[in-house]
Amino acid sequence: MSKAPGPSGYILLQMSQLQSQPLEYLGGLWREYGDLVRLRVMPGFTIFLSTHPDHAEHILSTHSENYQKPDFFLKPMGLVQGRGLFSSEGEFWQKHRRLMQPAFQQRRLVRLHSVIWDCVESFLQEWEEKPAGEVIDIAAEMKRLTLKIVGLALFSVDISDESNRLAQALRIGVEYVYGRLTAPLSMPVWVPTQTNRQFGQAKATIDSVVLEIIQNRRRDPEQSDDLLSMLMNATDEETGKGLSDFELLNEIITLFNAGHDTTATSLAWTWYLLGLHPDVAENIQSEIETVLQNGEPTFEKLPKLEYTRRVFDESLRLCPPGMGLAPRAALEADQIGGYAIPKGSIMNIAFYFTLRHPDFWENPEQFDPDRFLPEQVANRPKYAYMPWGAGPHVCIGKSFAVMESVMILSALAEPLVTRIAQRFRINLVSKQPIDIDPRFTLRPKGGVKVRIEKRP
Ligand code: HEM
Repeated sequence: MSKAPGPSGYILLQMSQLQSQPLEYLGGLWREYGDLVRLRVMPGFTIFLSTHPDHAEHILSTHSENYQKPDFFLKPMGLVQGRGLFSSEGEFWQKHRRLMQPAFQQRRLVRLHSVIWDCVESFLQEWEEKPAGEVIDIAAEMKRLTLKIVGLALFSVDISDESNRLAQALRIGVEYVYGRLTAPLSMPVWVPTQTNRQFGQAKATIDSVVLEIIQNRRRDPEQSDDLLSMLMNATDEETGKGLSDFELLNEIITLFNAGHDTTATSLAWTWYLLGLHPDVAENIQSEIETVLQNGEPTFEKLPKLEYTRRVFDESLRLCPPGMGLAPRAALEADQIGGYAIPKGSIMNIAFYFTLRHPDFWENPEQFDPDRFLPEQVANRPKYAYMPWGAGPHVCIGKSFAVMESVMILSALAEPLVTRIAQRFRINLVSKQPIDIDPRFTLRPKGGVKVRIEKRP
C-alpha cells in the first residue's frame, strides 16, 4: 500500500514553527501535499495531517474503536482536570459520558435558560454605567460574561471577578498544561521549579474550592437546580451508581475549562464579523424585530431565531475557536484513502482547513450565513462541518453553547431592538484584519476593540 505524501526527512527542526505558527505551517503543507499529509517527526513517530471529511468520518465514526487520544495528550490534560470527560478514554470515558449526557439534553437546558438571561441582564447593567463612547475589548467582555454564565449554570457560583481565586487558579492551570503540551521535554512535575510550585498551589486551590462546593451541596441538595445538581443525581442505568465526589470534582473542572473560553472566543469573532458586515447585522435586526417583538429571547423563541443561529454557525466555520481536535493515535495499522497508517501513528484532524476546503465551500474565505440554509447543508458531507467535533466524543456542551450564544447575540447585536439592546450601539474601532493567537483556542490577538455608544 502506498505511503501518504509529505515532506522528505524528519520535521524535528520545523517543530518550533509548528508551535509558533501552526496555521501557516500546516496550511502550507495542506496546500502542497493534499488532504492526508505524512509528517515524520523522528524515527518511530509519525503524524498525519488530516483535512478531508471522509478521513475524519473514518477516524471519528466508522473506525473510531481504532483511534484513541494518546497518553502524551491525556497526561498533561489530566494534571488539572484529572480523569474528566476530555482527558479520559475507553470504558471509564464511556461510563462518564453515559452518565453526563442527559444533563445536557435540550429539555434539561430549559432550567438553565433563566440563569443565562439573568447574567446577560446584569452584564448589560454594568455597561449602562460606562461613560458614553468608551472603547472596550469585546473579546475580554465575552470572556467575563461566559465565565459568569458557566459558573452560575454549573454550580451557582459567580467567579467572573478578576480577583476570584478559583478563576485565577484555573487560569494558571490552563497555561501550565499548554506549556507542557507544547514543550514535552519540560521538567517533571515533581521537580520544585518555580512554575511547578506555582502550579501545585493553583491545583490545590482548585481542588479545595470545588470540593467544598460539592460537599456543601451534598449537605443541602435542595439548594440549587444547576448542572451540579443534575450531575449529582445522575445514575448509571447499568450499575445504578452515580459519580463520587472525586469524579464530580474532575468533571466540574473539565466543564469549566471546556465551557467558557471556546464560547467567548466564538462570540468575539462573531462580533468582529458582524462589524465587518453591516448587511448581516441588519438582517439579524429584522429577524429579532419579527421574532422577539421587543421581548426577551425566551427558551421557546430561540429556535425561531434561525438567521442569528446561521450567523453563529458561519462564524464558527470561518473562525472556529480551535484549529482541530485532540490528537488520536492509531491502535492498530490501518488504511485511509488508500494510504497506509502504521500502528501508533498520530492523527491530527485539523478541521480549520476542512472548514475552508474549496471542494466543499464555495468562496471559502467569504462570510455567508446562508451556507447554513437547510438545502445547502443537505448538499454537503456531514463531516465537512465539525467545529464541535464528531463521533462519540462530539462536544457534550453544544446545545448549551448554542443556546447561550444565540441569547447573547440576540440581546446585544447592533443595532438590535430588544428591550436592552435599544440602549447600545456596538461599533468596531478598526476594520483591519485581526491576527490569530494560536495558543489553545484561536483567539483574536490583542482582542476586538469596539466603541459602545448609548442610544438616545
Ligand atoms: C462554541 C463553543 C464550543 C465549541 C466550538 C466546542 C468544541 C468542542 C470540540 C471540537 C470538542 C471535541 C474535541 C475532540 O474530540 O477532540 C469538544 C468536546 C467537549 N466539549 Fe465543547 N465546545 C464548546 C463549548 C462547550 C461547552 C459550553 C461545554 C460545557 C459546558 C463543553 C464541554 C465539552 C466537553 C466536556 C467535551 C469532551 C467530550 C468528550 O470527549 O466526551 N464545550 N468541544
